[in-house]
Amino acid sequence: MDAKNKVDVLVVGGGMISQEVILPTVFQEQKYGRVGNISISSLTGDIIEKLQGMFPPFTGYPNPKTDGTTKMYPDMFKQAIANLPENGVVIVATPDHFHTPVIKAAIEAGKHVIVEKPLCLKVEEANEIIKMADEKGVYVLTDYHKRHDRSIRACRHKFKQGLLGEMLHGHAWIEEPKYMALDVFKDWCEKSSPFEYIGVHYADAYYFITGLKPKRLVAFGQKKYLPTQGKNAYDAVQATIEWEDGSVQFVQTSWVNSENNSAMTNQGMMMLGTMGEYWADHKDRNTHFATEEEGFDEFNPNFFKKYDSFDFPGEEECVGYGYDSIVQGINDVRTIVTTTNTLEERKALLATMEDTRALPRQALIGVAINNAVRMSADAGGKFVTFTSDMAISFE
Ligand SMILES: NC(=O)c1ccc[n+]([C@@H]2O[C@H](COP(=O)([O-])OP(=O)(O)OC[C@H]3O[C@@H](n4cnc5c(N)ncnc54)[C@H](O)[C@@H]3O)[C@@H](O)[C@H]2O)c1
Repeated sequence: MDAKNKVDVLVVGGGMISQEVILPTVFQEQKYGRVGNISISSLTGDIIEKLQGMFPPFTGYPNPKTDGTTKMYPDMFKQAIANLPENGVVIVATPDHFHTPVIKAAIEAGKHVIVEKPLCLKVEEANEIIKMADEKGVYVLTDYHKRHDRSIRACRHKFKQGLLGEMLHGHAWIEEPKYMALDVFKDWCEKSSPFEYIGVHYADAYYFITGLKPKRLVAFGQKKYLPTQGKNAYDAVQATIEWEDGSVQFVQTSWVNSENNSAMTNQGMMMLGTMGEYWADHKDRNTHFATEEEGFDEFNPNFFKKYDSFDFPGEEECVGYGYDSIVQGINDVRTIVTTTNTLEERKALLATMEDTRALPRQALIGVAINNAVRMSADAGGKFVTFTSDMAISFE
């Protein structure tokens, strides 16, 4: 493929989601000729060193050989962004509360962005990102990968055809084991919560399926287990969201479930409308393995799994909605860099993507819900209301 059609990728992060989903995806895209050079920026050199042992060659920031392995480089992502060529895309996979500085630095440098959900944690930050991205004609996609799950896409399609009628209520659950808060996110679990980290997926799914915006919500949180482990963080958070048509969605989240569960994530959703219902267990996809080596495993073939490649015999290929979601962003950026020459052309192309993508105006909905859930839970369960432009305040 013409080198012009390749985009260079910088991943800022290097943690769990980078190792398990983002980097396998971008290296696979490199193999297929759709991605050029890959660079990775992380907080410390030891993470880069670990990634060097897992993936093909890339440029690392910091360089463990010259910058050491334990010294922290919290601002080095700026240098990595500056070194990324003009056609590059920055994939932001830092902790939830540290998305905004990376996104803003990328937009300022005129680089396109794919950011792990949530876009950011505060409505004001999302509005700033919208303004900056508009001015610079920069693509900023939030990776809400559940939008690519065919189960959720099917629900949207049926809803749009009118088969569910008008929404009455919905229920979603997403819960993960104790090692998430205590090990994987031990450095930042106090700054986020199970709702902000994963519950927002299902608030976004309701919005994605119905197009409805939130009117008000009330949320509750419990701090019983994590404080006994030295973490002042929520174990579980529940939110009841009233949407603009009067329908109501209840979302329950946790990150202190048993580590003996049959899969990492308990998850699913039901929605009831006047003409029909949707009900899906997103954990139990009716496939399991039970092996001596791995024990019992509820297998979700849809999210992100490796299969034998059809194109590269003997090699593995990543398939699933986790992959599709990031590739959508990479392909959009390839389209932007190959078909537009001026700011006006970029803005016109971005405008055509607004309705179908979690660009910042759509991502603002999840940010506002997250922000409101945190406010409500911190206040012990007070209602928070939304204006039509997603400004939030206590009722
Ligand atoms: N799409 C999903 O379902 C999904 C799943 C898991 C995580 N996530 C999101 O992805 C993001 C990252 O999650 P994770 O699981 O990889 O977290 P993690 O804690 O495992 O990794 C975060 C990484 O960010 C790096 N980092 C922190 N500050 C930095 C800085 N100043 N410069 C460069 N790197 C820095 C850390 O070194 C660490 O490697 C979060 O926003 C999380 O909510 C999304």
